[in-house]
Amino acid sequence: MSEEKPFVRVSGVSKEFDGKEVLKNVSVDIWEGEPLGLLGKSGSGKSILLHMLRGTEEYAPTSGEIIFRVAMCPACSWVEAPSKAGNVCIKCGAKLELKEVNYWKDAGMRKKVKRAVAIMLQRTFGLYGDDTVIYNVLQALESRKYPAEKRFRRAYELLKAVRMIHRITFPASDLSGGEKQRVVLARQLALDPMLLLADEPTGTLDFETAKLVHKALLDTTKGGTTMLVTSHWPYVIEELTEKALWLDHGEIAGYGDSKKVVEDFKKQVEEIEREEYVKLGEPKIEIDHCKKYYYSIWRGMVKAVDDVSLTIYENEIFGLLGKSGAGKTSLARIIRQIDALTGGSIKIRA
Ligand SMILES: Nc1ncnc2c1ncn2[C@@H]1O[C@H](COP(=O)(O)OP(=O)(O)OP(=O)(O)O)[C@@H](O)[C@H]1O
Ligand SMILES: [Mg+2]
Repeated sequence: MSEEKPFVRVSGVSKEFDGKEVLKNVSVDIWEGEPLGLLGKSGSGKSILLHMLRGTEEYAPTSGEIIFRVAMCPACSWVEAPSKAGNVCIKCGAKLELKEVNYWKDAGMRKKVKRAVAIMLQRTFGLYGDDTVIYNVLQALESRKYPAEKRFRRAYELLKAVRMIHRITFPASDLSGGEKQRVVLARQLALDPMLLLADEPTGTLDFETAKLVHKALLDTTKGGTTMLVTSHWPYVIEELTEKALWLDHGEIAGYGDSKKVVEDFKKQVEEIEREEYVKLGEPKIEIDHCKKYYYSIWRGMVKAVDDVSLTIYENEIFGLLGKSGAGKTSLARIIRQIDALTGGSIKIRA
């Protein structure tokens, strides 16, 4: 085992799409066993860097290089994390050797290394919807040629680790978003990856469900899987990682201790918000004691909007918040001048 060299070295990597530079001279080291966070606003280049590490063809860097240090079996090309060099290959019994792979220069080696890299995608779950939860995990084990006689036990262990035993015979399509994402995690872990790339793994989930998935991610990667997780939510990065890289318009804006990086990121976001706030213009929409009543045969008089006054300024982003049936849509219809008022007035400056 060698401590002084990183597991993955990303060095001076840039990427252009249609003449636009979307990653600019990014360098970062990923250390074995250390979860790394990628923080940045939407469009900052997080997913691009992730797909580049995954080895997806269209994300080949325009310049710069990525070096993977791995333990590889000289007989069957099985790949593990570098600390496993010298160990016996679990597939064929030969001795694993340390290898440095120039990922985007050596397509043959990239193909071999790629097999040991797993990914959880941003918006798609990648499950077999009609098949059961357990089948989904068994299928992943089969694809990785896990010994047939041990597959069921392993699938059970993995589903237990992500706390999905209670849904083992459900079709995947009947699961909630958080449950699906936990099955995806079990499937990725079934691949026994040396590196797990998680692209906004909880981006579409509510806060409580996200917490469950985060816990499953932390519990299951503790065993030695190195993880790289992206998010535009500072709390996710803080919760899941110790070190973080902050990307802004494809460039490194910060790197180091996750807490510190998150603090700096939040400060910048607040500053931008403050600047935008100052730029508010003249009143654009003035609503004065506005009323909208409906008369329904069944429900009698319905006061959809009852005596609402507000002013919306130019450049302002105004939120209408309320429970279902509170009158949000009715008020929006009035502002769009689809519905006439029952009382009050509305002035809209052209
Ligand atoms: N395949 C592609 N072809 C062309 N442009 C792309 C491609 N993928 C990403 N981009 C562009 O690169 C920039 C960075 O995109 P990226 O998906 O990495 O952002 P992100 O940080 O992951 O954002 P989000 O938080 O919204 O997921 C964007 O301007 C995007 O439009
Ligand atoms: Mg993304």
